[in-house]
Amino acid sequence: MKVLVLHGVNLNMFGRRDPAMYGTITLAEIDSQLTALAAQLGVDIETFQTNDEGAMCERIHRGHTDGTDAVVINAGAWTHYSYAIRDALAILTVPIVEVHMSNVHAREPFRHDSVFAGVARGQISGFGVDSYLLGLQAAVSAAAPSGPVKG
Ligand code: DQA
Repeated sequence: MKVLVLHGVNLNMFGRRDPAMYGTITLAEIDSQLTALAAQLGVDIETFQTNDEGAMCERIHRGHTDGTDAVVINAGAWTHYSYAIRDALAILTVPIVEVHMSNVHAREPFRHDSVFAGVARGQISGFGVDSYLLGLQAAVSAAAPSGPVKG
């Protein structure tokens, strides 16, 4: 199984960006924790970050042909307004898990809406790096042949 982890706009600045909100963990450290968890779970992982909305759409398009079985995405501020990325994600048929380091629902009103909500299986928000790690586990479970355990 291969999981594609997508990081959007400004997330390359984790570590230096608003440490009170996001902590001091860097994107490289987040990717390294994801890679270690993927190894434990026995799945392949690819991580990708861009600040270019078109490049993000093109990377999502490649997910149709590169063996991607599930997607974990933190699109940063694009989450709240990018219909282009939403439409690109909607073309994929694999499970999509939306994650956020901060609790977007406890922040400014513009962060409460996700234009991806209707195309994602679910959202994990507010647990720092654990949002990514929980998101990877949810994506692997959702993409498993037996499917996720439903409550
Ligand atoms: C974020 C939350 C977004 O509202 C914000 O624009 C980000 C980071 C998060 O991980 O908490 O860039 O996606």
